[in-house]
Amino acid sequence: MTATVIDGKAVAASLRGRIETETAKLKAQTGLTPGLATVLVGKDPASEVYVRNKRKTAEALGFNSIHIELPENTSQDELVGKVKALSADKSVHGILVQLPLPKHLNENAVLDALDPAKDVDALTPTNAGLLLSGRAHLVSCTPAGVMLLLKEYVGDIAGKEALVIGRSLLFGKPAAQLLLAANATVTMAHSRSKDLPGLARRADILVAAIGKPEFVKADWIKPGAVVIDVGINRVPAGDGKHKLVGDVAYEEAAQVAGAITPVPGGVGAMTIICLMQNTLIAACA
Ligand code: GUN
Repeated sequence: MTATVIDGKAVAASLRGRIETETAKLKAQTGLTPGLATVLVGKDPASEVYVRNKRKTAEALGFNSIHIELPENTSQDELVGKVKALSADKSVHGILVQLPLPKHLNENAVLDALDPAKDVDALTPTNAGLLLSGRAHLVSCTPAGVMLLLKEYVGDIAGKEALVIGRSLLFGKPAAQLLLAANATVTMAHSRSKDLPGLARRADILVAAIGKPEFVKADWIKPGAVVIDVGINRVPAGDGKHKLVGDVAYEEAAQVAGAITPVPGGVGAMTIICLMQNTLIAACA
C-alpha cells in the first residue's frame, strides 16, 4: 500500500483564494488594509528566509507589510520598545516577532509587550489561555494549518488516537489543544517520553514536531495511520548541496501510512497562509 499524499499546497491555495475575497470585501466596505509587521533580530539564515516569504505573501495579498530588522546585539529595552510601538500603531493589525531570538534576549518579556489582539502567532499567555478555555480568537499558524489538512483529508477525528511528539509553545501545545477540541484522544510525547515507538504505534493520527531529520521510522507507524510531519530539517544531499527533510522517514513511512504530508509541500505550505488569515481576522476585529 502507498499512502495518500496530503497536498498542503492545494489546501493552502484554496484558503488563499478565500482570504483574497475577504480582503477585497473588507477594503471595499471599510477602506481598511490589513497590516502585518514582521520583526527579525539577527541574521539566522533560516529565519531570514521564513520572514522574507511571510512578507512576500502579505504584499502579494495587498496587505501593508511593515518590516523591522534589528542587529544581533539589540538590547532587550530596544526590542521591547519596538514591539510596544507596533502594538500602539493603528495601521498594524498583526505583529510577528520571528523566533528564536538571540540568546541574550528574554522571549517572555518581548511577548509581554505584544498586544494580544495583534498576536498573530498566538504566543502570548492571553491567547494560549483563550485556546485552553475553548475561546480562541487567534490560533497559532502551524497547528491551525494542520487542523485544516486533517479536516480536508480525514474529516471527523472524534475518538481517534492522536499522538503529538514535541511540546513547544509554538506548535506541540496548541496542536494538542486543537486535537482535543476536535474530540480526539490526545497523547503528548517529548524528548523525555519512554518508548516513543510504542506510543506512536497506537496512533491513528501521528504528529511529529521534533526537529530531528527522519527520526520517525516506518515500524513506528500503525498501518493506515495519518502521518503529519511538522519537521523542516536541512541536511546534506551528498553532492555538496542541501535538501529539506521532515522528522519522518518519508519513503518508508509512505509504505505503511494511510496518508502522509510530504516535506516540503505539506504542513509548511499551510503556515504562511494561516498567518495571513490571522492578520485578516485581527484587522476585522
Ligand atoms: N520560528 C519558526 N516558526 C515560527 C513561527 O511560526 N512564528 C514565529 N514567530 N517564529 C517562528
